[in-house]
Amino acid sequence: MSAKRYYYEPADGHGLPHDPLNAIIGPRPIGWISSYDQQGNRNLAPYSFFNCFNYRPPIIGFASSGWKDSVQNIVETKEFVWNLATRELAEQMNETSASIPRGEDEFVRAGLTAVVGQKVKASLVAESPVNFECRLSQCIQLTTADGAAIDSWLVLGEVVAVHIDESLLKDGIYQTALAKPVLRAGGPSAYYTIDESHRFDLTRPDAR
Ligand SMILES: Cc1cc2nc3c(=O)[nH]c(=O)nc-3n(C[C@H](O)[C@H](O)[C@H](O)COP(=O)(O)O)c2cc1C
Repeated sequence: MSAKRYYYEPADGHGLPHDPLNAIIGPRPIGWISSYDQQGNRNLAPYSFFNCFNYRPPIIGFASSGWKDSVQNIVETKEFVWNLATRELAEQMNETSASIPRGEDEFVRAGLTAVVGQKVKASLVAESPVNFECRLSQCIQLTTADGAAIDSWLVLGEVVAVHIDESLLKDGIYQTALAKPVLRAGGPSAYYTIDESHRFDLTRPDAR
C-alpha cells in the first residue's frame, strides 16, 4: 500500500475534480426502470444506484436522488419493470435519462417498443433481452446516521415474473457476459461492459 493516501470526510467535500464515490463503487449494473402513472402514461429511466437484495423471493431495488417520476409512479401504481441495459441499447438507455415533462413517453423518445407485462401493467422494453416484472414491496426514505431525513428514496420490489432471451441460456445456464450488460462507472460519462475474458472463478470456503 502506498504511504500517500488521499483522505477526506464527505461532509466537508471531496476536493477532487469529480466525486470519486461512484467511480469507486463501480462498475454498477443499471436499473432501467419502466413504470406508468395513474393516467396510464408510460415512463422509462435508468438508475445506477441499483442492485439485487434477496434471492427468495427475489427483491431488487434502486435509489432515486430526489422524488423523481419513477418513484411517484411506482408509489401510485405499486408496480414496475426492470430491463437489462445492454451495450447495443446503451445510447437509447442514456436517452431515457433526459429530463422531459412528466407524462411524456421515453419509449417513444428513444425509439423503443413497449410490451405490457404478464403480471403487471408496466411495460417491458421489448428490445432488452431480460426483463423482470416487479411489485413494489417498500419505498424507504434514506436518513443520515443521525436520523435526519434525506431527499433520497430506495424503491424495492419483489420480482414476480422473469423474461430471458433464450439465446442467453447455454445448457440452461444464463451467460452474464454474452448479454454485454452496460455498467456505470464514475465521472460524467464513464461506462464499461464485460466479455468472457474478464471471468475468473472462486469456490466459497464453505463449499470446498
Ligand atoms: C446511467 C445513468 C444512471 C443514473 N442513475 C441514477 C440514480 O441512481 N439515481 C437517480 O436519482 N438518478 C439517476 N440517473 C438520472 C435519472 O435517470 C434521471 O434523473 C431521469 O430523468 C429520471 O427519470 P424519471 O424522473 O422519469 O424517473 C441516472 C442517469 C443515467 C444516464
